[in-house]
Amino acid sequence: MKAFHVELWSIWLSGFLLILLSLYATQRLPSLNNDHGRDDVLDSGNLSITIFTAPKPFMDSTGTRQTLAVRSWLALSPYVTVVLFSQHPSVASFANAFDSGRVLVDTNIDFTFLGSPFFHSMIAKSCAYLSDIFAVIDPETVILSGFISTLNHVYELDRDWLLVALPQNASNLDNRKQVRVQEKILQQNRPWNHCYNAERMLIAWNNKDMPLHNGVLPPFIYGTHNNWIIHEAISSEFRFVFDASSTIESFNLNNATFENSTSLDIENRKWEYIGNSHLGANYGSFFYSEANYSNLPKILTCENQYIMVDIKKNIVYPIGRHRGEVNRMKENAMHCIAHQKSVTRISDFSLKDQKKISLSLELPFSLESLLSITADRNKTIVLTVSGYSYKDMLMSWVCRLRKLSIENFIVSALDQETYQFSILQGIPVFKDPIAPSDISFDDCHFGTKCFQRVTKVKSRIVLKILKLGYNVLLSDVDTYWFRNPIPLLHSFGRAVLVAQSDEYQEQGPINLPRRLNSGFYYAHSDNQTIAAIQKVVKHAETSGLSEQPSFYDILCGKGGSNRVGDNKCKEPETNVTVHFLDRNLFPNGAYQNLWQEKNVKATCLKKGCYIIHNNWISGRLKKLARQVSSGLWEYDPSTRMCIQSLHSIKPRAH
Ligand SMILES: *[C@@H]1O[C@H](CO)[C@@H](O)[C@H](O)[C@H]1NC(C)=O
Ligand SMILES: *[C@@H]1O[C@H](CO)[C@@H](O)[C@H](O)[C@H]1NC(C)=O
Ligand SMILES: *[C@@H]1O[C@H](CO)[C@@H](O)[C@H](O)[C@H]1NC(C)=O
Ligand SMILES: *[C@@H]1O[C@H](CO)[C@@H](O)[C@H](O)[C@H]1NC(C)=O
Ligand SMILES: *[C@@H]1O[C@H](CO)[C@@H](O)[C@H](O)[C@H]1NC(C)=O
Ligand SMILES: *[C@@H]1O[C@H](CO)[C@@H](O)[C@H](O)[C@H]1NC(C)=O
Ligand SMILES: *[C@@H]1O[C@H](CO)[C@@H](O)[C@H](O)[C@H]1NC(C)=O
Ligand SMILES: *[C@@H]1O[C@H](CO)[C@@H](O)[C@H](O)[C@H]1NC(C)=O
Repeated sequence: MKAFHVELWSIWLSGFLLILLSLYATQRLPSLNNDHGRDDVLDSGNLSITIFTAPKPFMDSTGTRQTLAVRSWLALSPYVTVVLFSQHPSVASFANAFDSGRVLVDTNIDFTFLGSPFFHSMIAKSCAYLSDIFAVIDPETVILSGFISTLNHVYELDRDWLLVALPQNASNLDNRKQVRVQEKILQQNRPWNHCYNAERMLIAWNNKDMPLHNGVLPPFIYGTHNNWIIHEAISSEFRFVFDASSTIESFNLNNATFENSTSLDIENRKWEYIGNSHLGANYGSFFYSEANYSNLPKILTCENQYIMVDIKKNIVYPIGRHRGEVNRMKENAMHCIAHQKSVTRISDFSLKDQKKISLSLELPFSLESLLSITADRNKTIVLTVSGYSYKDMLMSWVCRLRKLSIENFIVSALDQETYQFSILQGIPVFKDPIAPSDISFDDCHFGTKCFQRVTKVKSRIVLKILKLGYNVLLSDVDTYWFRNPIPLLHSFGRAVLVAQSDEYQEQGPINLPRRLNSGFYYAHSDNQTIAAIQKVVKHAETSGLSEQPSFYDILCGKGGSNRVGDNKCKEPETNVTVHFLDRNLFPNGAYQNLWQEKNVKATCLKKGCYIIHNNWISGRLKKLARQVSSGLWEYDPSTRMCIQSLHSIKPRAH
């Protein structure tokens, strides 16, 4: 203990000398801004603060703990607004119970198919909120005190900053008078683990132009991100990063360990975290980042005096009021620092010791269980099939469906890269074990050998899913959906295969030979349809062509011998009817040259289109360019996020 004191004292002394000698001339530490309204801010405490979090459903004890936490934040200041990122109805009804505008629910970010929000999407969305300060806090972390006054002090720093604070050891708080939380929850005897709290560190930053860090935030799932962000923020040096654990009194109510806390609503949630550790590795920074918290400058209080201590650089630095009273500071400094156990608190452990999760990235769901999770109430599933070279188009398609609130889709990955990519993007995906392995080139387009092999994969998967009892809407990724076609397609009922027509003429029948487009069709799960698809698959296996001719020749007969009227066929053996969809509502890529229109979207909407197919164009890049330039594009590959319209959100004025 004595040695400890001596060491700190020497740190303090050398720091004090440095202040005298070089005053505040250091690049790393910001200086105070003397020029404007410092005291106003301090006195009025009217900084607007927006706290973001992603709660779990408000149910059971989790709900109780989250309620306590959110109430503790709102009690800090009338200028605190809480934004909850969640799609769960219990979260919306929780928010409704508060004064309008103090607790908002934001569903308009990217979520995984299990409902976990993406952290990169949360951070991107934060910019839409008008606020002086942003914070991200674990939904089960209660804040007791010190938060507002710390923020008021550091708000004056003339550099942009990022503050981190570790929730405290709750057992130290039991006997405190100001504990505003229920005794019951506090006094449970729990195996408090110090280190897992690092993942529940709260972060706050001032809302300025400077980003938190260099580069792109990977698609992390909320709850696994803090070490990465802090590490990147420190190394990019865009912002002054410091540790405010000792001036912000907070603690986490959740006693579960990191791994335990992940197995919540649906079993085996762990894959999401495995995915994140993959990302950490892929993005060059260790997932359990080696950010050395003991090296961070720390903010401490000393009888109403806020001081910044940079142990690494031997600098002690007063901020806030009374900063002129150096002598008094000196008197108190020994006393203060000696009592700041938290100075060394974070450095007590090495993050390296944290258990690493094994790195095999696999969804723990069979095709059957994925189907039962994602299918809608009528047991209908939207299926698409994609290889890696089409991954951006796949994402644009997924983003579009999500925007239309269509969640019952599933992706069949043609290769391992697509499979992993999809997992990291939160998509329900499975790998077709019998897919040919070499199909992901650039030139896998209509007419090629590759295309023929891929399309045969599709009908086999459709058949498999039909046999599992699910209706399938097969949609290629190069279809843009204007509105939800499922209710219409479902209404055709049993033994009707509903398909897009590839007829490019504007007049005449739409069921002529080889006009059945096997890139967009709906198959009802019944014995007759299954038998019909079975015939198609069998035919395609032995055919040297793609599956598209097999569909037509088997169902409508060679040369169209089974045609009925202008828009149907009837397969005589199974009695399955093929219904060709109205080309004005489901136009293909050639019909009316719609893709050449100046405003494709407006034209299609005017026609009442459900979808438009980006086919009848050769080459992946041309196809991509056509879709992006038309504006029928919903994904930003540089940020790995769905494109959101970010109009400003102003929380309630106080
Ligand atoms: C706080 O209030 C003062 C005066 O009441 C005002 O000058 C100042 O701009 C306000 N600060 C913020 C951040 O709203
Ligand atoms: C928490 O505080 C209690 C009592 O002060 C102490 O016994 C325990 O070791 C602390 N736990 C950690 C992880 O620091
Ligand atoms: C966490 O606390 C609950 C009671 O709130 C208790 O039932 C559970 O066993 C505890 N879990 C752990 C891992 O300590
Ligand atoms: C969850 O917590 C319990 C109780 O502390 C522990 O025995 C168990 O090993 C933990 N499970 C995992 C997966 O870490
Ligand atoms: C962090 O930095 C301190 C002081 O520089 C050093 O003693 C410690 O070993 C470092 N910890 C890690 C995990 O690198
Ligand atoms: C399920 O089918 C019924 C009857 O066909 C229809 O009214 C309903 O909209 C469908 N539900 C969904 C989620 O598609
Ligand atoms: C469909 O076929 C299965 C097995 O071939 C049979 O058990 C079932 O009764 C059939 N359903 C109908 C409606 O014909
Ligand atoms: C198809 O319909 C015909 C006449 O309606 C009927 O005789 C035949 O049994 C049906 N076949 C199947 C497989 O349902």
